Amino acid sequence: MRLDGKVAMVTGTSPNIGAGIAGGLAEEGAKVVCVDVSADNAQECAAWITGRGGQAIGLTCDVSDEGQVEAAVARAREAYGGIDVLVNNAGVLGGQSVLEMPLARWNQQLAVNLTGTFLCTKHVARLMVERGTRGSIVIVVSTAGHQGQAGNIGYCTSKSGLLNFTRAAAMDLARHGIRVNSLTPTATDVEEGAERAVAWGRPRPEARGRLLDFQKMAPMGRLPSPRHYADAAVFLASDAAEMITGVDLRVDAGAVAKYWPWIPQA
Ligand SMILES: NC(=O)c1ccc[n+]([C@@H]2O[C@H](COP(=O)([O-])OP(=O)(O)OC[C@H]3O[C@@H](n4cnc5c(N)ncnc54)[C@H](O)[C@@H]3O)[C@@H](O)[C@H]2O)c1
Repeated sequence: MRLDGKVAMVTGTSPNIGAGIAGGLAEEGAKVVCVDVSADNAQECAAWITGRGGQAIGLTCDVSDEGQVEAAVARAREAYGGIDVLVNNAGVLGGQSVLEMPLARWNQQLAVNLTGTFLCTKHVARLMVERGTRGSIVIVVSTAGHQGQAGNIGYCTSKSGLLNFTRAAAMDLARHGIRVNSLTPTATDVEEGAERAVAWGRPRPEARGRLLDFQKMAPMGRLPSPRHYADAAVFLASDAAEMITGVDLRVDAGAVAKYWPWIPQA
């Protein structure tokens, strides 16, 4: 149990990646605070963790609203005394090209992906500093933050911003013993998230055709699942990573390392 006695706050706990990470942290002994703007995602993730023998609470919170973030951090403190681990996973996916993107959608995507991460990091880190917690903060990025993807201007911009947010926050917090690292997922195998949705009593999400053939382009020939991101988050959260801060850990089946014209599965 690598996170025994630790408290972890995870934002964006849909049945897909957020719940995968929250469940992975709980399996290692962490008490988990599941935070989501959707009350169902917050409560059902917490119920799923407690149903498997873990400890968790669900909190409804819009991470782009500073008052709501402060209230969620206060509530987590009330419930569990403090926070040792924060996983900034909440995000708004998808988008449009620079030619089409409406300003309101751009603002909303940046508000959640960038400002939401800033606000959660700020208020959780303040609590860590106050309590002398040598905590770990993990920021979920995307391979779309490393590369220019057509038709996804707000997402690519916000996710690449998070890569340097990670480094700058790591520098601000180093003297407090708080580590800040990012985790880069990529196009994700949909099976685990779909199974979890069904386990939560939801209809199985419909398989959507993807415009790009991600699997064919992945050097490892298959796509990662949420549990692979959970393994990486557990490592970054644990004492095994005690001297690691300001790095990006890619869990992308080799996607970003690939020489661009090479088609591995051709
Ligand atoms: N699915 C992928 O293939 C993939 C690939 C790379 C990176 N990611 C990243 O992983 C993370 C999770 O992705 P996912 O596929 O599980 O997406 P998802 O849409 O299933 O989950 C996102 C969650 O964030 C929550 N959220 C949205 N706005 C919020 C707000 N204002 N306040 C609080 N919560 C809010 C949603 O309610 C939802 O539960 C995101 O940061 C995403 O960018 C996903």
